[in-house]
Amino acid sequence: MKNIAFLYNVRHHYPDPKDSKTLKETDFDDPETTKLQIKYLRKLGYTVFPIEANEKAYLKLYRLKNKIDLVFNVSEGLHGSDREAQIPAILEMLQIPYTGSAPLAQALMLDKAKAKEILLENNISTLPFYLLGRNDVNSNISFKYPLMVKPVSEGSSAGITNKSVVRDFVQLKKQVNYIEKTFGEKSLVEYYLSGREFSVGMVGNPPRILPILESDHSLLPKKYLPFDSLEVKWFFEIESKGHDHLKIPAKISESLKRKIEKICYSLWNAIGIRDWCRIDIRCDENENPYVLEVNSPPGITPPEHDPACYIVRMAQASGMEYEDLLQEIIYTAAKRYGIKI
Ligand SMILES: Nc1ncnc2c1ncn2[C@@H]1O[C@H](COP(=O)(O)OP(=O)(O)OP(=O)(O)O)[C@@H](O)[C@H]1O
Ligand SMILES: [Mg+2]
Repeated sequence: MKNIAFLYNVRHHYPDPKDSKTLKETDFDDPETTKLQIKYLRKLGYTVFPIEANEKAYLKLYRLKNKIDLVFNVSEGLHGSDREAQIPAILEMLQIPYTGSAPLAQALMLDKAKAKEILLENNISTLPFYLLGRNDVNSNISFKYPLMVKPVSEGSSAGITNKSVVRDFVQLKKQVNYIEKTFGEKSLVEYYLSGREFSVGMVGNPPRILPILESDHSLLPKKYLPFDSLEVKWFFEIESKGHDHLKIPAKISESLKRKIEKICYSLWNAIGIRDWCRIDIRCDENENPYVLEVNSPPGITPPEHDPACYIVRMAQASGMEYEDLLQEIIYTAAKRYGIKI
């Protein structure tokens, strides 16, 4: 195996909570990340064909079809609620092998409400929720405040700011309106969990769990509310290189660890994930863990550019370098297709 097409979405604007135009690209990588990722794949000895996952991607893939052994897919897709399924669907049609999950699982993981429905159906711990558009917010909402309000199909904390925790009906209505206006999406509304937060990286088929990371919100500067908001991820972790709050491996009791692992393996099977993913989990005040959401593909930024990138830190904590993680994802996918490596 020699030729790899690298499918990515790159950010054309820097995300700014005050500028809604920039927020739709929050989940995309910045140009430096993409450049470095390509460099690392080349360093592993592959011939790399970088392809931006935009409208022209299909034609480029079609032309390269017979040349490409495997696609390394970190794309998020463009437009619509199923956008993370777009590139996988194209690759299924063209019969080009690729890393990561198939279209159905990709679409499910992007839609936090649908993913949670599947988890609830399978008795996998996640909070009950409402899915609300601006016309659905009425006095029938029976949950007790404070509530967390987030766009149903975004990532990288787009639309998740200090204002996302709402304490009354007026704030709830305002935030649901804001999200619909900014993202054209409904809001996922659930209880605000105030306990410890963990992130769990998984790689392989069947998967293994990388060392678990804890985001210790008690160590954040006081101007941030204790959760991983857009401000924390973009301004604190990236700009100020603040990452002392990320603890890895997390100090957790055996029993909590076992609960989290069981949740993650069951989730992997229930959603039908392949190759790799990252699951976000938060506990209530009694250390009962609940799945917040699943990331596929999770961000995979080289450490020299973003030392806070979760799955890379997890890999490092298990003794792997950045390129080892890339290589393992490639080998995992190749093995699944029976491609000789
Ligand atoms: N119900 C909740 N209770 C408390 N905090 C929450 C809740 N839901 C989300 N959060 C906080 O907001 C952060 C972002 O939420 P979530 O992981 O759903 O968004 P995302 O944008 O998909 O994240 P990612 O960067 O992992 O793609 C979480 O890491 C957590 O700190
Ligand atoms: Mg998350």
